[in-house]
Amino acid sequence: MKKVKIKVPATVANLVCGFDILGMAVHEPYDEMELKILETPDIIIKHEDSFGLPENPSENVAGIVLLKIQEHLKLNTGFEVIIRKHIKPGSGLGSSAASAAGAAFGANILLKNILSKEEMVHFAMFGEELASGVRHADNIAPCIYGGITLVKSTDPIDIIPLNAPELFVAAVHPQVEVKTSDSRQILKKNISLKSAVEQWGNIAGLIAGIQKNDLSLIGRSLHDVIVEPVRSILIPKFDEIKAGSLQMGALGGGISGSGPSIFMLAEKQETAERIAQFMKSVYDTIEIESFVYVSKINPEGIQIEEESSSL
Ligand code: HSE
Repeated sequence: MKKVKIKVPATVANLVCGFDILGMAVHEPYDEMELKILETPDIIIKHEDSFGLPENPSENVAGIVLLKIQEHLKLNTGFEVIIRKHIKPGSGLGSSAASAAGAAFGANILLKNILSKEEMVHFAMFGEELASGVRHADNIAPCIYGGITLVKSTDPIDIIPLNAPELFVAAVHPQVEVKTSDSRQILKKNISLKSAVEQWGNIAGLIAGIQKNDLSLIGRSLHDVIVEPVRSILIPKFDEIKAGSLQMGALGGGISGSGPSIFMLAEKQETAERIAQFMKSVYDTIEIESFVYVSKINPEGIQIEEESSSL
């Protein structure tokens, strides 16, 4: 293949209690990326969106991933990438992971599937490192594998894809800025044994609930005693939105990634849509613009839209 067009989905990292280890792919929003192989060793990045992201490859999340792949495989060819970003940077919906995972996935197609999924995750993590200073894979893994993933370890890379239940996701992105680096910095560096025990009970319960398709167990396990109490203060109306959504029938939910987006899981599309409207209405009352998305958990992750063997 010389050219490939892919659709790269947003992802919800942490899934409330699984800080840095759990994540899921959704269908909406998504980025579009077109990658071309070049005869020369150049890496050319073009953004066709309005976010003003740097296009110098070593400063661009997709660019750094391609530079690392090129260096590792000692390629004398290069890549041109056109990125149409719809996942807003800083939304907590895996915007940087989408560019990083999309670059690794697209390059792999052009290189005739030379990389394993673990290797794609390895290279994509350089993009996350550039964006937030940390090599975490909880957004990248579900983007590449689809569905819900457990990042058992990043060194060595050990990713466990879980059975994604057929649930709907309602997400709201209030237009307030929360940088991942800032919302990581405010976290406590030490936790009590009591909190740790409670948290790993929830994580284990959530994974068991996902694997058994036990929706009540999933709901009971979506609690975070470590990160949410600290980070939620950065998100206006968080408590009101969470409590209201649970009253309307959400199974559970919380901060999406490092925020400010909030997500809720629901069994029925109708419930998810009502929750999304409610979330928006709460932000309307305090005059904060917000975007809402409703979609199913996305079992496939990145999708190929077109591929071509000519340029
Ligand atoms: N696990 C990361 C965090 C996700 O919560 O900081 C960032 O999107």
